[in-house]
Amino acid sequence: MRVVIENSAEAVSQFVADRIAQWVRHHPSCVLGLATGSTPLGTYRELIRLHREGSLDFSAVTTFNLDEYVGLSPSHDQSYQYFMQDNLFQHVNLSAESTHVPDGLATDLASHCLQYEEAIRDAGGIDLQLLGIGTDGHIAFNEPGSSLGSRTRLKSLTHETIRDNARFFENESKVPRLAITMGVGTIMEARQCLLLATGENKAEAIQATIEGPVTAQITASALQYHPNTIVVVDEAAGSRLQRKDYYREVELAQLEWEKSNTP
Ligand code: GLP
Repeated sequence: MRVVIENSAEAVSQFVADRIAQWVRHHPSCVLGLATGSTPLGTYRELIRLHREGSLDFSAVTTFNLDEYVGLSPSHDQSYQYFMQDNLFQHVNLSAESTHVPDGLATDLASHCLQYEEAIRDAGGIDLQLLGIGTDGHIAFNEPGSSLGSRTRLKSLTHETIRDNARFFENESKVPRLAITMGVGTIMEARQCLLLATGENKAEAIQATIEGPVTAQITASALQYHPNTIVVVDEAAGSRLQRKDYYREVELAQLEWEKSNTP
């Protein structure tokens, strides 16, 4: 895992947006895996800015979102479909057919999950997967105890996640109890993963993800087995890391190397 510790949440967004932008410029018909939550919002704002200034074209890009609440329609303002329209899709030139978010209203949820996996495969797999992290260490909605080999499926949310996400709803009782989520196994097949985290409330989950054992109790820790993952955190989210100085040294060396190898 490459661990990048930035000074601020803004710098995290900038780092991640730069990587996505570079990827899209070099591979215009790439497949992006996208995430919701407050953490990637700054990244999406920066991507929109780059698109508006004319330096980023999404016309050939395909996207797949990680997850969706069961029972919320796309017009519900807390559905992840709505979130993506509001915070990214409607502001850039992605075509409607090339964006995919699981359908929380699908009548046959099991076959919808299978079709979602098939659609990812048919698109050639995910090149770059953006990930946030829950305070319980989940990626997408892979709650503690999820199989590290899991595929897209239905998942019951934990009390911790329901409580964390209640801030977006009228009250806790309005938070859906079920979600459709890509599995840990699905995420692990992405060619590159970018996990981002900001704020003190993520510090424990980040420490466990990077420095703890690989365990289904912290599903993000499976990324230790992923050959190409970058974890990007601000100082607060990285505050519990025990090997901070080493990650900083490695990052400086990495940046030096990138500079001397850029034509
Ligand atoms: C939800 C999403 C996750 C996201 C997490 C953190 O649980 N399913 O994909 O990473 O929230 O959200 P936030 O960035 O708002 O802390």
